[in-house]
Amino acid sequence: MAGLAVNVDHIATLRQARGNTPYPDPVPAAVLAELAGADGIVAHLREDRRHIQDRDVYLLRKTVATKLILEMAATHEMIKIATDVKPDLVTLVPEKRQELTTEGGLDVITLGPSLKKTITALHGQNIPVSLFVDPDPAQIEAARKMDADMIEIHTGAFCDAVGQLAKDTAFAAVIEAAKCAARLNLGVNAGHGLCYHSIKRFKGLKEIDEFSIGHSIISRAALVGMDRAVRDMLALIKEL
Ligand code: PXP
Repeated sequence: MAGLAVNVDHIATLRQARGNTPYPDPVPAAVLAELAGADGIVAHLREDRRHIQDRDVYLLRKTVATKLILEMAATHEMIKIATDVKPDLVTLVPEKRQELTTEGGLDVITLGPSLKKTITALHGQNIPVSLFVDPDPAQIEAARKMDADMIEIHTGAFCDAVGQLAKDTAFAAVIEAAKCAARLNLGVNAGHGLCYHSIKRFKGLKEIDEFSIGHSIISRAALVGMDRAVRDMLALIKEL
């Protein structure tokens, strides 16, 4: 069975919406997600600190009992924080200030040497590294050459595709990417935009090690509670 890493960014989004309230707090939200069976907790510390704050990451490191996955841009500031926090995995993502959420995968081919430096620095701290990439075999092969430990396949194009043909085409790319990464002995995570409906499409795709899901789970949690929201997603993943 594939794992489920629950992204708690949007608990922090709700907190930051009022600027100065201490609630809701992503730290107890992570505890609830773990108690419901989550295999890991994800937090994205963005350069603009729009949701997760430094304090969250440091506290999550102290409280997360499964594994803590830190999503971050490949910047000096973030490498320093990761070195200090020592997450169980760093997922490197591209960041643009104006985007609503991470819009595309890393261009591993173009970023080449600078990305390699970041991966080497994190490996020097014994932190494994995953690269968030579009479902493109050329990017995945480049990730292998960079010595990444894993990739996370960006499922946004599949989730956003409108119409059966577009959906099928986008999902075929996800399948090919997952198989390509597995052939190259890279760990394979997948995420972005996945919900209680789109997850069902992954039935039979055994190459995915773990799904990284935030928005849909936190949205359901707002209505039915974190425990139920995480358990509902886990039940669907179990069926895959
Ligand atoms: N994976 C990565 C690399 C992301 O940047 C995000 C969004 O923060 C997710 C997964 C989770 O996406 P969503 O919140 O749409 O489930």
